[in-house]
Amino acid sequence: MDKPKHYVTAGKAEHHAEIFANRLKNRYRHLARRFRRAHIDVFRLYDRDIPEVRAVVDWYKGHLVIGEYVRLQTGPEWLPRIAKAAGEALNVPPDKIFLKRRQTQSRGEVRYARAEDKGKRFVVSERDLKFWVNLDRSLDTGLFSDHRETRVLIREMARGRDFLNLYAYTGAFSCAAAKGGAKSIVTVDRSAAYIAWAKDNVKLNNINDPAYEFVRSDAEAYLQRLRQEGRRFTLAFVDPPSFSQRRGKGRFDINCHHPELLQKVFSVMAQGSTVVFSTNHQRFDPKFSRLKVNSIQELTPATIPEDYRNKLIHRSWRIDL
Ligand SMILES: C[S@@+](CC[C@H](N)C(=O)[O-])C[C@H]1O[C@@H](n2cnc3c(N)ncnc32)[C@H](O)[C@@H]1O
Repeated sequence: MDKPKHYVTAGKAEHHAEIFANRLKNRYRHLARRFRRAHIDVFRLYDRDIPEVRAVVDWYKGHLVIGEYVRLQTGPEWLPRIAKAAGEALNVPPDKIFLKRRQTQSRGEVRYARAEDKGKRFVVSERDLKFWVNLDRSLDTGLFSDHRETRVLIREMARGRDFLNLYAYTGAFSCAAAKGGAKSIVTVDRSAAYIAWAKDNVKLNNINDPAYEFVRSDAEAYLQRLRQEGRRFTLAFVDPPSFSQRRGKGRFDINCHHPELLQKVFSVMAQGSTVVFSTNHQRFDPKFSRLKVNSIQELTPATIPEDYRNKLIHRSWRIDL
């Protein structure tokens, strides 16, 4: 098959690599010392800063995770060339550089790693929290660092609360709430692998407590069960994927289904409780007007960390009931 005509030429790729390497060095100089002092091992070094180099680079304690939003313009050699430039610029050896190709999916669907994906894991710090990460897995690493400041917020709100962490992934928010003094915590995800990972993260932080439950379930099915049992929470973090298959109900689409989902969450919340809702759908269209709540406040500017150039990497709201 012929190459698409618009592949970048080798000369152009060299030029991209050079300006990219300079940019990375500057960003590293700007961010690394400050994050090291704060015991933050994972941060975003490069976020499509240069239009020709549509990549993101995350620093994971001396490792680099480089993602390319695949385009026709870049051939198969482009990402390895960019990665080599990054490694040389920051003195990171090739075995500590991990490449992830993301298809730009028009509907923003995120692919999560398959449970059977293996690979070497290691521990990273986020201030006084610790998390297991695994950079070998297909796309995700175990930690969404764009939610670093959201975790601080949940931690600050958690004291004495009964906390529901829905779509919990590897339980990073459960760890934050535990450190903040939550009275009880329910960590819910439909993936057995992520529930096991969440348990490991809680153990790693020495915050095991019999009042912390881990539930492998479809979120909406579990909400129904909680409702039937009459159980109530006083704080929830709800961070659903943009799209997901639901048990017996067809596809969940955050843009269409978030009001319905939030109503279900509210039905298991006590009077005076708080729900923090977040999405990383890049074209999210909030439809909150019919929700019966006391107040809704967008938190996004406060929850995006300074190292993220994309100030809408996620959006977040505090909903008081
Ligand atoms: C965006 S991630 C959540 C990230 C997490 N809040 C964090 O910051 O660490 C979405 C998670 O939802 C889980 N998930 C997807 N569909 C689900 C469903 N129907 N019920 C429960 N969990 C689901 C996935 O396994 C994944 O772990």
